[in-house]
Amino acid sequence: MFLRPMNDSDLDAVLAIETAATEFPWSLSQFADCVQSEDSATVLEVDNSICGFSIFQRVIDECSLLNIVVHPKKQAQGFGRLILEHGLGEQSRAGVLKCFLEVRISNIRAQSLYRSMGFHKVGVRKNYYPGLNEREDALVMSRQLPQALLETV
Ligand SMILES: CC(C)(COP(=O)(O)OP(=O)(O)OC[C@H]1O[C@@H](n2cnc3c(N)ncnc32)[C@H](O)[C@@H]1OP(=O)(O)O)[C@@H](O)C(=O)NCCC(=O)NCCS
Repeated sequence: MFLRPMNDSDLDAVLAIETAATEFPWSLSQFADCVQSEDSATVLEVDNSICGFSIFQRVIDECSLLNIVVHPKKQAQGFGRLILEHGLGEQSRAGVLKCFLEVRISNIRAQSLYRSMGFHKVGVRKNYYPGLNEREDALVMSRQLPQALLETV
């Protein structure tokens, strides 16, 4: 099991995980743009196959968690926490002091993970996400990062 930067050859596997795990998946070109850009995109490999990923975007000393997904068959085994801990550690070592994220109001599982990792609510973005019948609000969460967050992974 190891974490490494996402590259172009991972995009099909990443898209397959995104499509299996989310109702409104990102497109292939969105992932490709992240890999080409300065964004920090990471995949977790378990038994020689990618089972999850995260994407952070950094602007000076702040970052946003743009996406984090674990394959449905691999969820609830600690992989999401592992990927998030690793990503926050990387951001901290790059000098980031604060991390923001948005999460669907209905996504209690992700919110539990974020709260347990020190994130707290800082606001709500109305009608931020598409929905099957109507748009859904986003909870905006943030947490400070210590200047040298010790990575456990
Ligand atoms: C959110 C997600 C990344 C979490 O990954 P995961 O590997 O399942 O999470 P973990 O096993 O590491 O669990 C971490 C924490 O999440 C929470 N959690 C996990 N499964 C849960 C469940 N079924 N119900 C409620 N909380 C749950 C718990 O707080 C858990 O901590 P604990 O095990 O110490 O209790 C994963 O569920 C996922 O890919 N969801 C679909 C995509 C998504 O919603 N991404 C977030 C977008 S903002």
